[in-house]
Amino acid sequence: MQVVRTRADLRAVLAGARRPVGLVPTMGWLHAGHVSLVERARAESATVVMSIFVNPRQFGEARDFEQYPRNEARDLAMAEAAGVDVVFAPGVEEVYPPGFDTVVSVGAIARPLEGAARPGHFDGVATVVAILFALVGAERAYFGAKDYQQVAVIRRMALDLALPTEVVPCPTVREPDGLALSSRNARLSADGRARAAVLHRALTVGGDRIRAGERSADAVREAVARVLGEEAAASVDYVSAADPDTLAELHEIDGRALLSLAVRIEGVRLIDNELVG
Ligand code: PAJ
Repeated sequence: MQVVRTRADLRAVLAGARRPVGLVPTMGWLHAGHVSLVERARAESATVVMSIFVNPRQFGEARDFEQYPRNEARDLAMAEAAGVDVVFAPGVEEVYPPGFDTVVSVGAIARPLEGAARPGHFDGVATVVAILFALVGAERAYFGAKDYQQVAVIRRMALDLALPTEVVPCPTVREPDGLALSSRNARLSADGRARAAVLHRALTVGGDRIRAGERSADAVREAVARVLGEEAAASVDYVSAADPDTLAELHEIDGRALLSLAVRIEGVRLIDNELVG
């Protein structure tokens, strides 16, 4: 496995790479969710590239960016074991050189949910992913459905800007109690970690209501919120039952819905979703 840190070295290494190339963008602190993306890329690509870059432009508060967990030695060992060929681990100035002054801003699909809760977040994500797509020139790039809206935003961007990289969504990897793996879980105490299982429990209750024929989106959102309300440690940011294509909140459900939520536990903001139907 080769580790490169500059745009120039990345281009040099990839010039002779066997194709197709698969890209797995990450911010490090790797876990089994990231590894599942690498495995999918490995199965479909001759060369697998992983980027490891904690992107300052997608964090609202500087504190959140600074507190993001980092351990490059551990990440490199995990990437190598998972079958990555090339790791791109640049510094901030390499991604955003002096004078950098361009923002990729996706419209309506980026506005609700995480976009509303974290102003500027998706501009930061779209901008860095556009740069990574341009630098790597991969045939395919792999993203987790855990960040459903992120996949939708990146798909829209790739389509609109005619970027040749195909966006491939991959299923969410979960702990045995249902908690979606996330780098942020590392910031929870053992007690908070156990309580965080309420996110998936709440989504399952909502999903079950829809599968049982419930058509009122309000009733489903209330059922999800009620489960979250039973966990005193959980402070709810939002509960949503939205159209899976537009992410607009639903009034009536005709079988298909994206249930999603954002919850703080011990000050750590956790998100999860379930696509029903
Ligand atoms: P990061 O949070 O490191 O996630 C990297 C990729 O792993 C994303 O596509 C994310 O959806 C996926 N992922 C995270 N948890 C997962 C899980 N439990 N199961 C399956 N996939 C999971 O998302 C980002 O980084 C950044 O926004 C990035 C796209 C790299 C741009 O900076």
